[in-house]
Amino acid sequence: MNKLIVSLLLTVGISGIAHAAGDAAAGQAKAAVCGACHGPDGNSMAPNFPKLAGQGERYLNKQLHDIKSGKRTVLEMTGLLTNLSDQDLADISAYFASQKGSIGAADPKLVARGEALFRGGNLDKGLPACTGCHSPDGKGNAAAGFPHLGGQHAQYVVKQLTDFRKEEGGRTNDGDTKPMQSIAKKLSDEEIAAVSSYIQGLH
Ligand code: HEC
Ligand code: HEC
Repeated sequence: MNKLIVSLLLTVGISGIAHAAGDAAAGQAKAAVCGACHGPDGNSMAPNFPKLAGQGERYLNKQLHDIKSGKRTVLEMTGLLTNLSDQDLADISAYFASQKGSIGAADPKLVARGEALFRGGNLDKGLPACTGCHSPDGKGNAAAGFPHLGGQHAQYVVKQLTDFRKEEGGRTNDGDTKPMQSIAKKLSDEEIAAVSSYIQGLH
């Protein structure tokens, strides 16, 4: 391939990304309806509603497309995204990503077990450490689309890990290589409770 074609391809690729980029200021107004459950700044009060504040933009945008298309079932959000365009979803994602996420507390009785799992995985069961993708401080990897977990409500995290583990009717909108479905199948209920509590206090 000659140099001109390569540079043309690069330009097209880069402007394509720039076009889809979200505008946080425009997103704030579009996100007003979401605040009832997720909190006006994305820090929800109820433990079954996920915090969106400080979550990675790419991850948020993917979830919104998955929820809108029905790839991920969220009954509480039925119909809410139907009339939102790709640009609206990108703007809303940029808004919540720009907010500061709050932190909760871990149950002192579960911290040691949860931390060992999060940082070390479980070699016997072939369970990788969560830090590999979600980073040691739980920030995730925004560019790769690995979600920020630190400070997330434990009750919500327990539900996600349990849903990823289900064979049917669970959470099937995983990453490209379906990492979470195979990881969650290796976790016991007890381990899910411990690692979720640890995540709630992680920062
Ligand atoms: C009536 C309550 C309610 C409203 C209103 C609502 N949501 Fe949700 N949302 C939920 C619940 C509950 C979940 C988690 C479902 C589950 O347990 O998997 C969720 C999940 C999400 C997720 C996935 C979060 C993650 O960490 O994976 C995103 C993103 C999201 N909502 C964005 C929005 C946006 C944007 C709006 C407004 C357009 C909105 N929600 C309005 C209840 C609501
Ligand atoms: C190989 C990379 C990888 C590893 C290791 C990994 N995760 Fe994940 N995780 C992901 C990806 C990618 C997603 C997002 C899936 C999607 O895009 O829908 C995710 C999503 C999640 C979610 C859902 C977040 C939300 O807001 O709904 C939770 C909870 C989670 N992971 C917990 C864990 C825990 C606990 C561990 C360790 C036992 C772990 N992950 C290990 C890649 C990984």
